[in-house]
Amino acid sequence: MTSGTATPRPRVAVSRAGLPGAGVKRLASHYDVTMWEGTAPPTPAELARLAHGCEALLVLGSDRVDSALLDAAGPGLRVVALASMGYDGVDLDAAAARGVVITHTPDVLADTTADVAMALILMARRRLGAGVDAMRRGEWGAFRMDAFLGLDVHGATLGLIGYGQIARALARRATGFGMRVQHHHPRRKEDDELSRWVSFDELLQTSDIVSVHTPLTAETAGLIGAAELARMRPTATLVNTGRGGVVDEEALLSALRGGRLHSAGLDVMIDEPRTDPADPLFAEPRLVVLPHVGSATEATRAAMVDLAARNIEAVLDGSDALTPLPG
Ligand code: DGY
Repeated sequence: MTSGTATPRPRVAVSRAGLPGAGVKRLASHYDVTMWEGTAPPTPAELARLAHGCEALLVLGSDRVDSALLDAAGPGLRVVALASMGYDGVDLDAAAARGVVITHTPDVLADTTADVAMALILMARRRLGAGVDAMRRGEWGAFRMDAFLGLDVHGATLGLIGYGQIARALARRATGFGMRVQHHHPRRKEDDELSRWVSFDELLQTSDIVSVHTPLTAETAGLIGAAELARMRPTATLVNTGRGGVVDEEALLSALRGGRLHSAGLDVMIDEPRTDPADPLFAEPRLVVLPHVGSATEATRAAMVDLAARNIEAVLDGSDALTPLPG
């Protein structure tokens, strides 16, 4: 004879409505899913209320996962799955202390993000962004041999700071564009078929384009500041599709204004989102800025959410997470 009381399904909180792909729908078929329904992202207090009593959370890279959130979820929390590769908003020590598994989404977004890094290189170095802006202002004018002159991308040396999946995907693209590729990684001092390892100093001094691919950590915050920009060639281009905090924005603006750096392209900034139309970053003609769209294709965003959901399913099923962060 059965008691008639169904076992409650594990509770899962999802920090945004309308996430692309089938991942959240699949979660809802197995678990009791509560979704944040607000149009603006939840505040930390709102996310904490949503997380209360949950065994799993699916959050975005811009959500803060700290001890306050973990405690608000309670002792039943087993996994926090980020639908993002970056995890600078996560207190990994606090999670480890509570035995909570944190997962992220490597692999699935590398090529898509590398496409945007390549686009920024072309836009900034060939001054394509400035060309688009001029067209919008009706300033095309007669054809001139000296208008919108940029610098060639083919034949240039690309220097990659960090050498993970996105950097390697960019190295493959750069090779196709006829560029030479070198990289700096502080621990893995190895060449490969795409790129040769160089010291950080050599990279800054000998690259025509420097592209940032290092995670934001205590060691990399402000890594590219005034001193590093001064070591770069005045004809160089700086591109950042990683995390805004790695580049000192004041120093970057000052280098561009002073003619000590040719151009720059940023997909990521300190303090996102940036909504003030008078933001000095938007006014700098040699700087191309994008609203953090590195992984923004339908297929890639769906794959990120799907991987986050699969990580939750694995942990709640008692298996190992597919893509955990080191605990
Ligand atoms: C990532 O995956 O880290 C992207 O920046 C989106 O959060």
